[in-house]
Amino acid sequence: METTSRLICGSARSMDKVPDTSVDLIVTSPPYPMVAMWDDIFVSQDDRIGDRLARGEGRAAFDLMHQLLDTAWEECSRVLKPGGLACINIGDATRTLDGDFQLYSNHSRILGCFPGHGFAALPDIIWRKQTNAPNKFMGSGMLPVGAYVTYEHEYILVLRKGRRRKFDHAAEKLRRRESAFFWEERNVWFSDMWFDIKGVDQRLVDTAARERSGAFPLELAYRLICMFSIKGDVVLDPFAGTGTTLVAALASGRNSIGLEIDDTLLPVARTFLEAAPRIAREYNQRRLARHRDWVRTRTAEHGPPKYANRHYGFPVMTAQEQELLLDDITGIGIAPQTDGVTVRAQYGGEARSEEISAIKDNAHRLVGVGAKPPVIKQNTQVRLQL
Ligand SMILES: C[S@@+](CC[C@H](N)C(=O)[O-])C[C@H]1O[C@@H](n2cnc3c(N)ncnc32)[C@H](O)[C@@H]1O
Repeated sequence: METTSRLICGSARSMDKVPDTSVDLIVTSPPYPMVAMWDDIFVSQDDRIGDRLARGEGRAAFDLMHQLLDTAWEECSRVLKPGGLACINIGDATRTLDGDFQLYSNHSRILGCFPGHGFAALPDIIWRKQTNAPNKFMGSGMLPVGAYVTYEHEYILVLRKGRRRKFDHAAEKLRRRESAFFWEERNVWFSDMWFDIKGVDQRLVDTAARERSGAFPLELAYRLICMFSIKGDVVLDPFAGTGTTLVAALASGRNSIGLEIDDTLLPVARTFLEAAPRIAREYNQRRLARHRDWVRTRTAEHGPPKYANRHYGFPVMTAQEQELLLDDITGIGIAPQTDGVTVRAQYGGEARSEEISAIKDNAHRLVGVGAKPPVIKQNTQVRLQL
């Protein structure tokens, strides 16, 4: 298997280099309207925004900022395949302008714009960020009525273009089965509240780049990509920043395209992409180790799960996990271009062969040295001790 990741310096509002209906999944986080760190980038794209902010006209500035994002969402609609999903991480803003404190609800404004492009909203996820904010209470302290609720969550909106995607061809069906996630992962990933993902350090050490990246955690992008696409798919991030989505796509065997308007972030993204082979290995090993731990606990409490995974031999809960396979990156080539960078990666089953020999050794131990290990067939019950 091979993938290509392409990071382009350019605007999400005119993605000329991305063909119509060529993308399977969008994972992104735009600049957040009315959050002060993004004012300059909005003003650089529409100077009326600066005037409205200076005059304390918060609602007008909010509307203009979203009109800029609307153009990007229109482009997303053009490039996404029918049945493709868009996952948009967005936080609402709280801000005082002209002495007036209020909430600017970015998530509802974005949700409202997508049905106009033929999208259906699916259940969204609340990402409850773990913060140690020293100043949790805002407003009038202990006195009613002017104290404000502290905002510590963001949204991951999930939108689908048209009707549900179908998998018709045999090769695609196999890729889908190999892209399965573990039953116990599903129970956490498909919960509507994510408590377990911490925000990342956004300080940028590269002196040419701006001070803060606005990056989301790699785990967030990786999880969404595993949940809503299959290996070999094309994942797009129209607001790519430091390239987190592209790295997560690379680490999970997906192709990707990213657009980023701020070219000072390119070296940061490139260094991140170079680390993808190590990241893929770590993610794969961690997922496999967690699964083995889960099997041990499950077996002790309820007996062994019913099915066996074909590649690794270990027990799995459902028939759908029998062909689940995590690929390591075995080779990577990075080609800088005038307008960005392209990465080509090859994948192999190193993890697979290590796992299989571990299982075989284990089986030998159980049945005695020299004896033939038991054959693990699909749909058979697994009685191996882990
Ligand atoms: C919230 S950050 C995304 C960070 C990214 N998820 C990461 O992990 O690094 C939003 C990014 O959108 C970029 N941006 C703003 N307007 C843009 C536009 N019109 N086209 C492309 N990128 C844009 C900003 O420079 C910023 O890097």
